[in-house]
Amino acid sequence: MKVSISLGGSLLTKNQDSQSYIKYANAIRRLKNAGHTMVVVCGGGKLARQYINLSKELGASHKIQDEVGILTTHINALLLISALGKDADSRIHRRGVDVKNHLGERILVGGGHRPGSSTDYRAALFAGAINADLIVNVTDFPGVFDKDPKKYPDAKKIDYLNYEQLEEIVRSRFKQSPGDYGLFDLKAVKYAANKKIPVIIIDGTDPEEIVNAINGKHNGTLISDKKN
Ligand code: UTP
Repeated sequence: MKVSISLGGSLLTKNQDSQSYIKYANAIRRLKNAGHTMVVVCGGGKLARQYINLSKELGASHKIQDEVGILTTHINALLLISALGKDADSRIHRRGVDVKNHLGERILVGGGHRPGSSTDYRAALFAGAINADLIVNVTDFPGVFDKDPKKYPDAKKIDYLNYEQLEEIVRSRFKQSPGDYGLFDLKAVKYAANKKIPVIIIDGTDPEEIVNAINGKHNGTLISDKKN
């Protein structure tokens, strides 16, 4: 299977230790060894929040705040590349065309590219560029909820959504501004919908759940044009 993974930066930066990178590298390496073709885009996590806030305090425009965020995603990408060693291509991939041209034996790792979205959009674009079967959005939340779970403790997880339903949820809950592009950003939803690429949103606190998602038995939310 060809898979594009959006790996939430919060998972990589939670403990700010090497083990956090090693455990995701190990899960991704196992998937590669099982024959899957993998592209992984790293988010910025704690680093992004800290530095975007600093730039905001300094009066930076939204464009500069996003650019600060992009640099933090590159730090995480380099750390994941380091943890993957010879299994990864050593470049940080930023554009669909590069991913397409370099797709081969090694795992391709990417980061942010342009202001105005999050790395979710990169993962969607990369999925389009390589004709991926699936996008896996790896977050620290167990999927999509019927209400904002940060505000409503009784919110319930949804197992399946179509693209329009996800778009409505993302629009209503997230501002689409630096550091707040949401659980899967709007441009990414629209791109995946247009290309009809299924998206699975999972809690990847335990990296084993990424393996489960690719093997079709995850506990997250599936977004596609048909329930299966
Ligand atoms: P993330 O992809 O980590 O975004 O990029 P996020 O939605 O804030 O984080 P998660 O998914 O909840 O962990 C960090 C920031 O970098 C900028 C945005 O400001 C984003 O919020 N960015 C990233 C871009 O402007 N363009 C990109 O292509 C990627």
